[in-house]
Amino acid sequence: MQVAASPLVSCRGVTYMYSRGAAPAVVDVTMDVLRGDSICLTGPSGSGKSTLLAILGGVVQPSEGSVRWWATGERPSRDTATDVHGCDASWVMQTANLLPRAHALENAALEAIIRGIPPSRALARSAAVLDELGLGAFYRTPARKLSGGQAQRVAVARSIVASAPLILADEPTGQLDSVSTARVVSALLATVPAGATVVMASHDPAVAERCSRVLTMVDGTIRDDR
Ligand SMILES: Nc1ncnc2c1ncn2[C@@H]1O[C@H](COP(=O)(O)OP(=O)(O)OP(=O)(O)O)[C@@H](O)[C@H]1O
Ligand SMILES: [Mg+2]
Repeated sequence: MQVAASPLVSCRGVTYMYSRGAAPAVVDVTMDVLRGDSICLTGPSGSGKSTLLAILGGVVQPSEGSVRWWATGERPSRDTATDVHGCDASWVMQTANLLPRAHALENAALEAIIRGIPPSRALARSAAVLDELGLGAFYRTPARKLSGGQAQRVAVARSIVASAPLILADEPTGQLDSVSTARVVSALLATVPAGATVVMASHDPAVAERCSRVLTMVDGTIRDDR
């Protein structure tokens, strides 16, 4: 018997307006992020991908509709888990947001250390993930001396090492060539068998084709879910 995957985040009729009277950025979206999903949000610029990510992460409250998060490890039933506010997500933002004076290895380990992973373990794991992402020569380079694409990969490493149940990544390969893009996508997707769920926004068909689900957004709505 096949057991249905359980939801991690559920959106019901979610609409979001940045300001009163403005056209909504997200319009009447109903969807579940299921545990173990690897989702690519795709669609034209301005279609609402970043806004939907912010809603999924609990960073913004919908103007209409509801969002529910289920606590990690909890199996939802009809009545459970509606009191969990926001999600235990790790973010890869469009800008890397690294500490400029800290070197790549420290930046990659930082979120994991804040989350309680022992520093020695976090640093060892950071080194391994930076290697996977082609940054083995840059462990000791201060973040301010990294290129945009190198900094973006360190930000991806930081999220992977953090081992959060949900990774929300906004254009994580936006500044990368095809080789680095493939490495980043492989490293992000490798977290899924280890128990994570990944949602990323991307314009790149090469990213979309490797995800288990592709949600295509048009004018704030989900036009296609496959
Ligand atoms: N901070 C903001 N204030 C007002 N309007 C905003 C803001 N951020 C986004 N918008 C508007 O909301 C809509 C959706 O934007 P969003 O950034 O979610 O799109 P996107 O699909 O992520 O685009 P891109 O591919 O360019 O990153 C757009 O019309 C945009 O102009
Ligand atoms: Mg965006």
